[in-house]
Amino acid sequence: MVRNTKPKLEIVQHTRSFKTSKRITPNRLSQDFYSMKNITVIGSGTMGNGIAHLFAQQGFAVSLVDLSPEQLSMALTTISKNMDRQVTKGTLSESQKMAALQRIQTHTDLAMAVVQADLVVEAATENLEIKLELFRQLDQLAPATAVLASNTSSISITQIAAVTKRPAQVIGMHFMNPVPVMKLVEVIQGYATSAETTSQIMQLALQLDKVAVEVQDYPGFVANRILMPMINEAIYTLFEGVAGVSEIDTVMKLGMAHPMGPLQLADFIGLDVCLSILSVLQEGFGNPKYAPCPLLRTMVAAGFKGVKTGEGFYCYPAGTKDFTVSSRFSK
Ligand code: CAA
Repeated sequence: MVRNTKPKLEIVQHTRSFKTSKRITPNRLSQDFYSMKNITVIGSGTMGNGIAHLFAQQGFAVSLVDLSPEQLSMALTTISKNMDRQVTKGTLSESQKMAALQRIQTHTDLAMAVVQADLVVEAATENLEIKLELFRQLDQLAPATAVLASNTSSISITQIAAVTKRPAQVIGMHFMNPVPVMKLVEVIQGYATSAETTSQIMQLALQLDKVAVEVQDYPGFVANRILMPMINEAIYTLFEGVAGVSEIDTVMKLGMAHPMGPLQLADFIGLDVCLSILSVLQEGFGNPKYAPCPLLRTMVAAGFKGVKTGEGFYCYPAGTKDFTVSSRFSK
């Protein structure tokens, strides 16, 4: 059952058969859950800094890891600016913001960053080999009791778990961008993930004031299995000349009440990320219906990846606030 009202500390957990469900209430929470205090976030890009922001704001001690001090410093600036939005709106006080920022420590040394971790959330690059190698290292470096989670948008949790010696403690924790704003956490149970780990993470998501939905580990999980074909179809609609960029997005925004049209959303997610997820769906299901539109492939090959490169279906000369349809698509 998925609720869109403010979550209470109570969840309904579906079994693998999806036919029965069990209710978890506070008096059945494991002690381990309550002792989760130290969170290590790997990767300080858009998703990583959003995840660090969220945990720090909710009172957790956060170790944020990336390859260089420059990346980490940029991430802290972004987190501070995003918290300023909340301060301006009055949902966070200046002192709460300062306290949250002080809870974030930055590291370039993975071993140091995970030494006390109760939970590691990996939000590094979506490259299979890099991710597998990272999880091999995390398995060696993190305390034996730590849960290892990945924010992957499409890589198999089962495959990631299989390179560790603790597959029962490996899980998917898929946040949505922008992390501090979007209510959903898709919790992905790998083939070997234990029910206890899943329950711990479902409860933790509630503590973060998110709505957690438990799903099984199949390509694209639920979010991207449904979202990406819609985005791909929007790109095909443009490619085939059925309508222009703003017309397609307007239909979906005003006709279906989506906050962003699918082409703008593709730019926001990153066209390279969309291409990679569609390729995982196509390969994983062996079904040509997921084949990425040739226009998407061409744009990614040319380096037009959306907001992050300044141009995709739209141009973003001054960031996401001020954008116009790319001249390549204007009539
Ligand atoms: N941190 C904190 N607050 C933020 C924020 C951030 N990074 N980004 C936006 N906000 C806040 C703003 O301060 C604003 O707050 P109030 O409404 O309370 O004043 C609110 O979010 C809305 O932001 P804006 O006014 O700047 O802009 P908007 O109204 O156009 O909303 C949006 C922006 C929330 C991103 C909205 O357009 C939206 O919901 N878009 C769709 C997002 C989406 O679909 N995300 C999922 C992508 S898929 C994914 O992430 C997973 C994957 O695997 C690909």
